[in-house]
Amino acid sequence: MCGIVGYVGEKQALEVVVEGLRKLEYRGYDSAGVAVVSGDHLDVRKKAGKLANLESLLGTDPLASSTIGIGHTRWATHGGPTDANAHPHVSEDGRVAVIHNGIIENFAELRAELTAAGVTLSSETDTEVVAHILARSLPAVGGDLAEAMRHTCQRLEGAFTLVAVVADDTDVVVAARRNSPLVVGLGQGENFLASDVSAFVAYTREALELGQDQVVSITREGVTITDFDGVAVEAKPFTVTWDAAAAEKGGHDTFMMKEIYEQPKSVADALRGRVGTDGRLQLDEMRLSDSDLREIDKIVVIACGTAYHAGLVAKYAIEHWTRIPVDVELASEFRYRDPIVDDRTLTIAISQSGETMDTLMALRYAREQGSKALAICNTVGSTIPRESDAVLYTYAGPEIAVASTKAFLTQIIAAYLVGLYLAQVRGNMFGDEIASVMRDLQDMPQAVDRVLDTVEPVTELARELAAVPSVLFIGRHVGYPVALEGALKLKELAYMHAEGFAAGELKHGPIALIEEGVPVVVVVPSPRGRATLHDKIISNMQEVRARGARTIVIAEEGDETVVPYADHIIRVPVVPTLMQPLVSTVPLQVFACAMATAKGHDVDQPRNLAKSVTVE
Ligand code: M6R
Repeated sequence: MCGIVGYVGEKQALEVVVEGLRKLEYRGYDSAGVAVVSGDHLDVRKKAGKLANLESLLGTDPLASSTIGIGHTRWATHGGPTDANAHPHVSEDGRVAVIHNGIIENFAELRAELTAAGVTLSSETDTEVVAHILARSLPAVGGDLAEAMRHTCQRLEGAFTLVAVVADDTDVVVAARRNSPLVVGLGQGENFLASDVSAFVAYTREALELGQDQVVSITREGVTITDFDGVAVEAKPFTVTWDAAAAEKGGHDTFMMKEIYEQPKSVADALRGRVGTDGRLQLDEMRLSDSDLREIDKIVVIACGTAYHAGLVAKYAIEHWTRIPVDVELASEFRYRDPIVDDRTLTIAISQSGETMDTLMALRYAREQGSKALAICNTVGSTIPRESDAVLYTYAGPEIAVASTKAFLTQIIAAYLVGLYLAQVRGNMFGDEIASVMRDLQDMPQAVDRVLDTVEPVTELARELAAVPSVLFIGRHVGYPVALEGALKLKELAYMHAEGFAAGELKHGPIALIEEGVPVVVVVPSPRGRATLHDKIISNMQEVRARGARTIVIAEEGDETVVPYADHIIRVPVVPTLMQPLVSTVPLQVFACAMATAKGHDVDQPRNLAKSVTVE
């Protein structure tokens, strides 16, 4: 939510900052703005709407030349998406410019205080108060921007990444972070600040993770980090493992299509190097002992959106393999219902970004109750893995499209690996049983590839159905979360009514939604799995068809029993029952993407959304 870039070096700051914003635009696209320091003044441009609007403005009203600057792309929280509410916000004396990601929870109080002191605020945002307080703090600390930032942060409540520059200092960009993401990029004679590494990976892959409640100053020569009291702190360095090309569209029309087609590789990468030389499974970071893991008597998965659906899939496998009960919880609900969590609970947080505020807060709550914590995450060095006792990275590479695709498949893989790891440590499965599941997983890249080879009819079907007002999705067992995920994709991309149901629930209410022509996507379990499940979904198909539904059936190759009840059949390869979500989700991603395209929507940046939801 909101993308932030800061740069100081020898290059033209505007070019670096705008290029960085282009990479971060997936985080929010309600407005964009830049500020550079030139001579002894600030030059600021900002514009409502996408980055392209700002670029048009810069075309007619260019910025001064400068080698130090900041930039912001906004997902609106306080105040609508207008020019006035766009960042940067500038202090009343025009000397300090600030950009912000997060929410200043006590902004109303601070705003009232500033108004009483005679300050005229020119936006409806929570951020603007920071620019004024920061500027007012400067004289008392001899113009030291980092010190003024520390003083300012002591007054703020909520979540924030703040980045500031001051008019008469062409040497330093200062930032602060609490609960919102910020990384430092380390260059030669130049340094970078950004919400994530994609903003600067074209220039450097060397980076620093920042901790909670820290202030960082970047100059051309170096980086200084302190806590909010001014005590120097060390940051953890890391090297970005992917290159700038990974954050480009690679010949596809949209990032989403590129990411859908990357899934065979992403799944293979998620599985790579998981078996040690001793033949045993290994995670990326493990600060829990085997005896800790043997004592676990309950697993709670916390996640949001697509990651929550991955958790629902994982429940079937982890319970099956470990016999540990697994609760899957919406992170946004978790800590508000007094959940039963203790030191024998393993909380698994699943998050692509590692920054989702609902998930982070739920994780912290679980840890406060004594729970052990394991993160499944795609973003190395992000907050959720940093605050966990064990980490499994998904290695899907950067996911730029707002709609999650390859993250979902790799989250399932990672959660399965966690299940197998627990089964290994606790002795629930023999080594050869684990090896057999691993072989099944290793076959998945090829299986996903086959789905992608045969997916063209799905695109045609989506075009044909683009005008329907509603699509329903049903599934059973692991097909149920797949149905939920298919519906979520369609809602967020095609802006239409779409709902997923456990097929058995139809007769308890949702079947009333069926009328002539309503498309119902049916995720059919394998007939080789639990036969009763397959028989029951065949009955469900007959029930909806009898009431006029048009069935779109996802069934494995060779399952001819579905033919009489299917208006359209999408075939997926024959894979073991627990692996089915890895193949049956893919056509649904393509379906949503194609339907949104047919409706003329922006597939990568759907309305009202942002990729990383860093506010609660
Ligand atoms: O970064 P996270 O995995 O924590 O994000 C969770 C959800 O916000 C995310 O999966 C969201 O639902 C996707 N846009 C859905 O496609």
